[in-house]
Amino acid sequence: MRGSKKKKNKLFKLGFRVALYSSITTGGVVFLALIFFSKQNLEWISICSAIALVLVFFITYFFNYKLQYHRLEKLEEISRNISKKRFEEYQDITTKHNDEIDFLVKRFVKSSRTIEREIQRLNRIENYRKEFIGDISHELKTPIFAIQGFVETLLNGALEDEEVNRSFLKKTMRNVSRLIYLTKDLMEISKLETGELKSDIEPFYLYEVIHEVLDSLQHKAEKDDVNLELKTFDKNLQVKGDKNQIKQVLINLIENGIKYNIKGGSVKIVLEEYKRDRERVLLTVKDTGIGIDEADLPRVTERFFRVDKSRSRERGGTGLGLAIVKHIIEAHREQLYFESKVNEGTAFKFTLRKVH
Ligand SMILES: Nc1ncnc2c1ncn2[C@@H]1O[C@H](COP(=O)(O)OP(=O)(O)OP(=O)(O)O)[C@@H](O)[C@H]1O
Ligand SMILES: [Mg+2]
Repeated sequence: MRGSKKKKNKLFKLGFRVALYSSITTGGVVFLALIFFSKQNLEWISICSAIALVLVFFITYFFNYKLQYHRLEKLEEISRNISKKRFEEYQDITTKHNDEIDFLVKRFVKSSRTIEREIQRLNRIENYRKEFIGDISHELKTPIFAIQGFVETLLNGALEDEEVNRSFLKKTMRNVSRLIYLTKDLMEISKLETGELKSDIEPFYLYEVIHEVLDSLQHKAEKDDVNLELKTFDKNLQVKGDKNQIKQVLINLIENGIKYNIKGGSVKIVLEEYKRDRERVLLTVKDTGIGIDEADLPRVTERFFRVDKSRSRERGGTGLGLAIVKHIIEAHREQLYFESKVNEGTAFKFTLRKVH
């Protein structure tokens, strides 16, 4: 603010120069015209030319000042702000003249906005990267330290006891499996997030894929006393998508349905018409499990987010399953919906394009 006040008292150099050149030209032209066309003496002609020169100087300077000074000052302010990484809204700027200076002002305002958005985007990526590395190291630390603890105890004498031996090796194995799953999921999500993993969209039979998934998860469901149900639909229905990725989506959703369920509960898979778009179908995976609190629901697709970290970890969860689901559905340009009620159950739904 102080800077601009100081500026105001300064001479408007560009206007001064324009006024000076215009007035000298006018004075010269008036002088020559009077010499040729008037019969007055030289003194009178010189006075008239000088008056014309002074008048033109002030008038030109005044109009230049009015027309250009404030807008040039604004341009200077915008570029000063950009250099100080300040990106204001500049709603007070009027650009009604539609000339080159207005064009420059508009361009500067636009550039300022673009730079601001780009800085915000880069900051977001940087924070995201930092968070990702922090999360990964945290997730890796837990099983690695557990393995270290078990192996150390065994080496320190527990090896003698066969019973302890077996139990510690089992626990070590569980943590090794956790590390393997974690590494696999991390590789998958990083490829999905960087756009490295492309979806290979082709028609496939949906019923067949759902059946394969249900078969592979049947054992897990029985162990947890959860019933898997599929509401039958047209076996010949073909949809468009990356078969393996859609399979992954179904595995992640049904696994969650089993993992976060109650004894004697169920996971139901239902296919129906998608009412908002007749070209698509809507696939629902609905469970009768513990449900998700309303406050946590918007965050469940975030990487590493778990409502109950200890419960999820105990069941081998790393909080990547739904993040992978979200990325795959987005890469397919399809919709993902979810709703849940604590102690009643959760439903995840997604759309798929039909093949006619
Ligand atoms: N069907 C569900 N019922 C209740 N809570 C769920 C359900 N699905 C997901 N959640 C909650 O959302 C969190 C995130 O789910 P997500 O599948 O991403 O991770 P995870 O199951 O913990 O681990 P991962 O799938 O990577 O093995 C879970 O930890 C759980 O708290
Ligand atoms: Mg999961």
